[in-house]
Amino acid sequence: MTVVAIIGGSGLTRLKNLEITRREVMRTPYGEPSAPLVFGRLSGREVLFLPRHGAGHTIPPHEVNYRANLWAIRNADVAKVIAVNAVGGITTDFQAPGTLAIPDQISDYTWGRAHTYFGSDAGQVTHVDFTHPYCAPLRATLIDAAGRAKLVLQPRGCYGATQGPRFETAAEIARLERDGCDIVGMTGMPEAGLARELNLCYACVAVVVNPAAGKVQGDISLKEIEKQLEAGMAKVRTLLEQVIPLIKD
Ligand code: HPA
Repeated sequence: MTVVAIIGGSGLTRLKNLEITRREVMRTPYGEPSAPLVFGRLSGREVLFLPRHGAGHTIPPHEVNYRANLWAIRNADVAKVIAVNAVGGITTDFQAPGTLAIPDQISDYTWGRAHTYFGSDAGQVTHVDFTHPYCAPLRATLIDAAGRAKLVLQPRGCYGATQGPRFETAAEIARLERDGCDIVGMTGMPEAGLARELNLCYACVAVVVNPAAGKVQGDISLKEIEKQLEAGMAKVRTLLEQVIPLIKD
């Protein structure tokens, strides 16, 4: 039984400590996922890994086939998903690069992405509840695991999902802040909404890799982001190793 699927974002196209057992190329009614699904053992249990931006990190946020990715995971009989997302930090407690957060809310500013399985071809109009967009028990397990691993993290936060691939203007970030967003990223939606439509238990580990636009003097430095991605993902690996044994079947 595969206990959890891990969707890796920028900086996490591979799980170094995963003992890979097999790779599976999946086709779905929505096309191909970002990469073959990688199955393997982590902390003694079977997990599935999928790099959101492709194995070679070539698919930009607005072109990720989110529907195929989530469908493939569901079809592999996996019920829980941990999504890893690099983000910019907006509010004070979330600004420092290297900060980890387990957000509890989302505001969606993306547009033009295939964002639902319930289009007119589904045959009937279907709505899903999304009041609490992330799976509370899985969030709690992640927060517990971070404590055990002595990793400091923000146990909440509102994720503002923007379209990208450009970063935001300072004015856009000011607007997101007024809207109550603590962090900003380009891949949180429609992924979380699709997971809900498929009844998956889905939680996000957000890794701050830069202060959002206008939050510090000067422009956003890609070089600095690269550096922070590496350091941040090392923490994520530790968190993942710690959380896998704690996940209930
Ligand atoms: N904005 C949007 N997405 C991001 C950022 C940002 O500042 N940093 C990492 N992903």
